[in-house]
This record gives sequence, C-alpha cells and structure tokens, in this order.
Amino acid sequence: MQTTFLSALVLVAASLVSAAPQEVPGEVYFCGKNNWVAPCKDLIFDLGTCQKAATFLDGGAQIASIGPNNHTVCIGYKSADCTGSSSWGFVFPGDADGGVASGTNFTALQSLVCYDKHL
Ligand SMILES: *[C@@H]1O[C@H](CO)[C@@H](O)[C@H](O)[C@H]1NC(C)=O
Ligand SMILES: *[C@@H]1O[C@H](CO)[C@@H](O)[C@H](O)[C@H]1NC(C)=O
Repeated sequence: MQTTFLSALVLVAASLVSAAPQEVPGEVYFCGKNNWVAPCKDLIFDLGTCQKAATFLDGGAQIASIGPNNHTVCIGYKSADCTGSSSWGFVFPGDADGGVASGTNFTALQSLVCYDKHL
C-alpha cells in the first residue's frame, strides 16, 4: 500500500519536472541577420562533435547571431573542421551582431563544437 503511494508520488513529481521547459545542452540558436533577425534556426548538436557552419542556415547563409542556451558553451574555428587554434567562444546569451561590438568579428567562422557548460 505504502509502496503504491510512493510510486504514485514519484510519477507525479517526474511529470511536474518534465512539464518545466527543459534546456538541452548543445542547443544553439542561429540567425542570418544581426539581433536575431531571420533567417533563423534552432539546432541541437551532439556534444563534442565538430559542426560545419555552412550547414546551419539554409543555403549556407552567413551567420550574424549565435546564441547557445544556458547549458551550452561553443568554441568556434576559422577552419571547417574545428582544427587549428580556436578563435571564438560563445555562451548564453550569445553574440547578436557578428561579434562587432565585442571586437570578436566572427564573419570568418567556419566550424563550431559545443559542450555541456557544466562539465
Ligand atoms: C540562465 O542563467 C541565468 C543565470 O544563472 C539565469 O538568471 C537565467 O534565468 C537563465 N535563463 C534561462 C533561459 O534559463
Ligand atoms: C569582419 O571580418 C570580415 C572578414 O572576415 C571583414 O570582411 C569585415 O569587414 C569585418 N567586419 C568588421 C566590422 O570589422
């Protein structure tokens, strides 16, 4: 009897948790224009896997806004395969003007690898 009650309680607690918006590590929001103006894509990357920037927006459009979620940190490279020295780091709320205001112009970004920020 008591076990049944506890099981029911656990089920209720679990559904309350999953009802809250969950942020998945590896999720990044991209837009082709400054200040999150379309075209935009919300992508969830495999952690630690190199991603080619040309695949993020339709037609390989230039990326101007990069916004990892709170649980994600991304490292950007000028090479297309995440080799060479890393040139950019992105964390929430991200960078919405191509890196101009922050002096980190990321027009030349060609690849990105993202990790769980809390690792
Ligand atoms: C992101 O983290 C900050 C600081 O920990 C917090 O204030 C903010 O509410 C978080 N945003 C989201 C969307 O979870
Ligand atoms: C950003 O870098 C690109 C080349 O990577 C350059 O063409 C552009 O002028 C730069 N923008 C600014 C504002 O410096």
